[in-house]
Amino acid sequence: MRLDVVTLFPDWFDWFRAQRHVANALAGGHQLRTLDLREHTPLSGGQVDDTPFGGGAGMVLRVDVMDAALRAFYDADPVDLRAQRRVIALTPGGRLLDDRLVDELAQEPDITLLCGRYEGFDERIVEHFATDAISIGEYVLAGGELAAMVVCDAVMRKLPGALGHSDSALEESFSAALGGYPEYPQYTRPAEYRGWKVPDVLLSGHHEEIRSWRLQRSRERGAADDD
Ligand code: 6GU
Repeated sequence: MRLDVVTLFPDWFDWFRAQRHVANALAGGHQLRTLDLREHTPLSGGQVDDTPFGGGAGMVLRVDVMDAALRAFYDADPVDLRAQRRVIALTPGGRLLDDRLVDELAQEPDITLLCGRYEGFDERIVEHFATDAISIGEYVLAGGELAAMVVCDAVMRKLPGALGHSDSALEESFSAALGGYPEYPQYTRPAEYRGWKVPDVLLSGHHEEIRSWRLQRSRERGAADDD
């Protein structure tokens, strides 16, 4: 997979690239590139944003700046780019990220993530340059960069070879293998600590019983979340 992130803060991603599962995915042939919006701005003084028409607080990322950056990087009209790759605007008003959407994105060969700053994007960026808009939750971040890292993290750990154990991403919280329920509780050594015991069934070696115990716990957790 080739992931490109359009951002005002490309060096934030240097730290991200060094994290184990990301580094593994990159060593395995996947790519994570950053594209610096400020480097390509046609405006003077590195300007990328402007005050909103109609008034209001904050600044909005300009559509001409995004156009210039995407055009320089891909050598194509950004309007046509959408036919070749998934172009995702990260914005609190977008589709909420969940495991289903992460699975969907993990199937894509090429993804471009657009990070907004300040009060967000000129809407024409979302309308004409993006295929989707994604939000990572119902709260507002100062910019799309952390959201882009969340998307990259969740997607990259689904790629073959990113996790140490190939089954690790299969039966985890919210996965189809668990019927969309949260993950069951996990325990490790010591089997007893300060009088707190690990459930006997997990030490029993009965794989079928362990399996049904785990599914049951997973369902209970899901039910508790619905309250
Ligand atoms: Cl994708 N961007 C921003 N700025 N805030 C958010 C978000 C995205 N998702 C939740 N809050």
